[in-house]
Amino acid sequence: MTDASQILSGSADASASDEIKVSIRDLYKIFGDTPEAMMEHVREGMSKPELMDNFGHALGLQNINLDIPARKIQVIMGLSGSGKSTLIRHLNRLIEPTAGEIWIDGENVLGMSKQKLRDLRRFKMSMVFQKFGLFPHRTVLENAEYGLEVQGVAKPERDERARKWLDRVGLNGFEDQYPSQLSGGQQQRVGLARALATDADILLMDEAFSALDPLIRTDMQSILLELQEELHKTIIFITHDLDEALRIGDRIAILRDGAIIQSGDPQDILMRPADAYITDFIKDVNRAKVVRMRSIMGPVSESKGDPIQLSASIEEALPKLHASESNCCPVVDDSGAPKGNVTLDAAIDALKAPDSAGDDVRYS
Ligand SMILES: Nc1ncnc2c1ncn2[C@@H]1O[C@H](COP(=O)(O)OP(=O)(O)O)[C@@H](O)[C@H]1O
Ligand SMILES: [Mg+2]
Repeated sequence: MTDASQILSGSADASASDEIKVSIRDLYKIFGDTPEAMMEHVREGMSKPELMDNFGHALGLQNINLDIPARKIQVIMGLSGSGKSTLIRHLNRLIEPTAGEIWIDGENVLGMSKQKLRDLRRFKMSMVFQKFGLFPHRTVLENAEYGLEVQGVAKPERDERARKWLDRVGLNGFEDQYPSQLSGGQQQRVGLARALATDADILLMDEAFSALDPLIRTDMQSILLELQEELHKTIIFITHDLDEALRIGDRIAILRDGAIIQSGDPQDILMRPADAYITDFIKDVNRAKVVRMRSIMGPVSESKGDPIQLSASIEEALPKLHASESNCCPVVDDSGAPKGNVTLDAAIDALKAPDSAGDDVRYS
């Protein structure tokens, strides 16, 4: 096992963007009467259905190892029942693990005193819930300042900070209304304002946009991404929706039956799905829109075409590739420096979903 405290303290030459905020090590959660006694079976490889059938225990999480980077959006994705909520609730110890460790900012969450844990929940983390979790008898303003009230902030400062965040999420003028007078999207804006007002550096969002209509949901994603450009919070965002994961996530971890089956940046997952399950999961993705030049380019070489940005999608690049005489263009970074070369063939190849890495047996 890697020493998490070492990772978290970071080496002198690690760049700021490599900083790890949350580190999860060898985490297991088994639900039932004698979870510890079940660990032996699980470590020996007993599957989730077998554990349920033979011993009546639910395998919630198994062997989770995940480093969550600071100031990025880490998506946890998986179907219903895959363990997403169980995982996120471990971070503030709303759930106690059966085995394993959780480190936040270099501190072992499981070793925290009651006081420390209370501070962690009040000051370092805030949560946005799927069902909004607003108090019906409180006004929008009173809801937005709730986290500050719990922190013990005095009323005038609470009001000022809550008003500022309500304004930031587009709810200026709604302060004195009640949640029932608001649409679903507006209610979740209150949920977001409430979470941001506490100034916590970690935001936990459990299916926060899943209850919203598609258009409103896309709006909320845009608001979150805009705010994040400025705020640089560590956001742990749970979703069962792949499009949402690809749009929002700097990193994505995919859970199945309580285990992480792949973790990486969205491009990694699209270009190198770890197994047949993920291959199947990503097969309907619009690859023209989501696969970027940096994932399909080759080494720098002579080419006369129009330069294309590293972050350009295939869809954005195709006109230039067609227009270039050799069907080949240089790929450049923001400053215009050459980073590689992309060909029309590579772009068209990447439009087809790849075979997965781990399924040779199945497809040979
Ligand atoms: N309190 C509990 N008691 C028993 N089983 C539970 C409990 N909470 C979750 N589980 C089980 O753990 C698994 C993961 O659940 P959950 O984390 O809620 O999944 P998700 O959020 O991905 O839908 C499921 O099989 C669920 O039935
Ligand atoms: Mg859930």
